[in-house]
Amino acid sequence: MKVVVTGGSGFLGQRLIRALCERGALTDAAGRERGIERIVAVDRGECSEPVTDRRLTYVLGDVSDAAFIGGVLDADTDSVFHLAAVVSGEAERDFDLGMRVNLDGTRGLLEACRRQRQAPKVVFASSVAVFGQPLPAVVTDGTTPTPQASYGVQKLIGELLVGDCSRKGFIDGRCVRLPTIVVRPGKPNAAASSFASGVIREPLAGVEAVCPVEPSTGMWMSSPSTAVKAMVHAHQLPASAWGTQRSVNLPGLTATVAEMVEALRQAAGDEVAARVRFEADEPIAAIVRTWPARFDTARARAMGFAQDADFASILREYMRQYAPAAMR
Ligand SMILES: NC(=O)c1ccc[n+]([C@@H]2O[C@H](COP(=O)([O-])OP(=O)(O)OC[C@H]3O[C@@H](n4cnc5c(N)ncnc54)[C@H](O)[C@@H]3O)[C@@H](O)[C@H]2O)c1
Repeated sequence: MKVVVTGGSGFLGQRLIRALCERGALTDAAGRERGIERIVAVDRGECSEPVTDRRLTYVLGDVSDAAFIGGVLDADTDSVFHLAAVVSGEAERDFDLGMRVNLDGTRGLLEACRRQRQAPKVVFASSVAVFGQPLPAVVTDGTTPTPQASYGVQKLIGELLVGDCSRKGFIDGRCVRLPTIVVRPGKPNAAASSFASGVIREPLAGVEAVCPVEPSTGMWMSSPSTAVKAMVHAHQLPASAWGTQRSVNLPGLTATVAEMVEALRQAAGDEVAARVRFEADEPIAAIVRTWPARFDTARARAMGFAQDADFASILREYMRQYAPAAMR
């Protein structure tokens, strides 16, 4: 079985690839459990300490180059995890880049999927950014997506295309609307949600974190491990579990930035928590304000998607790996 992971050098791409290597097998579109013989990780960039495995190949290139992605998929790809994207802040700043990568890239990938010998399974990493104001207090499975930023619009169009290509039998698609994933190690990125990791990561590294939104801002979040499990679970479910509805709001949890900083205080002490400073950044705050913070994810739970227990457990997951010395 050949599996292609786009965005394979990224934060979630690397974790997903590690999980696929550990599993060693996936259920294909015909419902057969098959060993993974090849994983092809596609990305425009390299990562500093990439996962290595004898089944894994890294291919550098641009997903929005249709000829390139067509060549990577060739005609023998069984499953695609499509994670390559320009993240929210960057897609808002550079409209053309966002449209090219997030929209044309997804369209080109789906065209390449059509040329496979068998319709492949496609898991598309979408986002809760498909929702925007006006919103009910709690977003449900019936809430109409009304994105208010280019990134969310591009993700939503991608979902619609995945749905239509599934209806046509070109692919067997599944779209997971990921919550904001915390805590992201390394450096801040261009996502408008970058501060949600920054308010934890930077203080633990002894650095001041500047939070661009109000302490009362609520975020819908999930840990990296839960997000990766969700992408694999989305792949493994039979097509009948999705029916005509190929997108799902994933379970997550809500915490305000103030609650996150309080959890940090309890886990790592006053001195660490005091390193968070609030300083409004209106362009970022304006995007974040349009995002939903509370969900009822009944459908996802009925489909067997799991969620993190609480923010403290997400924090501990990060600290165990990246800041064990700071744990009390
Ligand atoms: N991390 C989150 O909080 C979050 C939340 C919701 C949705 N998502 C979605 O999940 C996916 C993975 O997110 P992530 O956090 O790992 O992001 P990331 O930025 O770490 O990874 C994305 C990868 O895509 C690659 N990429 C960008 N443009 C490309 C192009 N033109 N061609 C090839 N590769 C390209 C980047 O180099 C990067 O390695 C993305 O689609 C993102 O929109 C993430």
